[in-house]
Amino acid sequence: MRIPLIRPFLPAGTQELVAQVLASGFFVEGPLTAELEALTAAWIGVPHAIAVDSATTGLEMAVRCLGIGAGDEVIVPDYTFPATALAILCAGATPVLVDVDPDDMNISMNALERAITPATRAVMPVSTFGNPLRYDELLPLAQSRGLYVIEDAACSFGAAYRGERVGRQADITIFSLHPRKSITTARGGMVVTANAEWAQWLRAYKCFGKGAQQTRASTTFTQEGRNAMLPDVLAAIGLPQMKMFDGLLARRRELARRYKQALLGRPGIRLPATPAEGAHAYQTFCVFIEERDRVMAILREQGIEAQIGTYALHRHSIFSHNANVRIEGGMAASKQVFDHALALPLYHEITEAEQDEVMEKLCEAIGTGDPHS
Ligand SMILES: Cc1ncc(COP(=O)(O)O)c(C=O)c1O
Repeated sequence: MRIPLIRPFLPAGTQELVAQVLASGFFVEGPLTAELEALTAAWIGVPHAIAVDSATTGLEMAVRCLGIGAGDEVIVPDYTFPATALAILCAGATPVLVDVDPDDMNISMNALERAITPATRAVMPVSTFGNPLRYDELLPLAQSRGLYVIEDAACSFGAAYRGERVGRQADITIFSLHPRKSITTARGGMVVTANAEWAQWLRAYKCFGKGAQQTRASTTFTQEGRNAMLPDVLAAIGLPQMKMFDGLLARRRELARRYKQALLGRPGIRLPATPAEGAHAYQTFCVFIEERDRVMAILREQGIEAQIGTYALHRHSIFSHNANVRIEGGMAASKQVFDHALALPLYHEITEAEQDEVMEKLCEAIGTGDPHS
């Protein structure tokens, strides 16, 4: 595509750092991954960040870490990437799919509250596309019902709420480092928490359940685990981005502001809502369009990689035909959002001329004329 949906940004120095790791012969998890963890924890303002091999793995680890498994329910939004609910299934627990808010695309608080049963142990809300959750409503509700909050913040690195960066609100928060995210290591994830005990469990789990180690001979294996580490050769890809993340985020927000300024109030285009106290990270910039598929096809024919937002899970057989999944309600908003959300190109190096062209072609396709007129 001439104007792709996303293009990963590799700051100067990335290739040299990767080359250094390759030359060292030490490819596995080591000092660079530890540095990425430390920088992430410091940037968010949390005591513990544990790098893992993907957000999907991190989500499953969070469920297991909290002792949630067979017979337990975890409530998730229907409108999300399948990994959210799959992580719960893989941990042996029951995902309970509930509807989302039609304006901000995040989990509906009413639907969440209605779906709670005595078997509910946690809620796994998704800060969709980088749009922060309404924590003022979510956290008191979860607390009053004794539920853990595991935030799937795969897309939300950089988002904030009431001035606090996402990663500080939930019990455990998981970010993705997939190439479509605002910061990438090609594949990878980051699990953050304020709880030292959970952090220790997560750290051991990702490394075969290994306990504290002085020397190789004194290694002990103390808990269940697997190999979910993030190798240094991948951390090297992400470190230079992490070091300039403020700049990356500011650029994303500026691009989103340009989109909003030009598209707000255009006939045929509706913009999603962000909570008044929230700061969006804009991993994805979405608009709602009535004839989404027709408009998306026209843009793609012209080399502009517009894309659907994400999925309505209840429409997929792994969830709809699964005795270990509960689907709560008719999912009216999730269906609506799935049918009408259109993601527009947004990445660090997109030029303003390219962005203007996206907006012009979008308005032309909808039939609302020039967005700058
Ligand atoms: C909401 C959400 N959760 C989880 C994931 C999975 O992330 P990863 O590819 O790092 O496993 C994604 C990936 O796009 C996502 O959008």
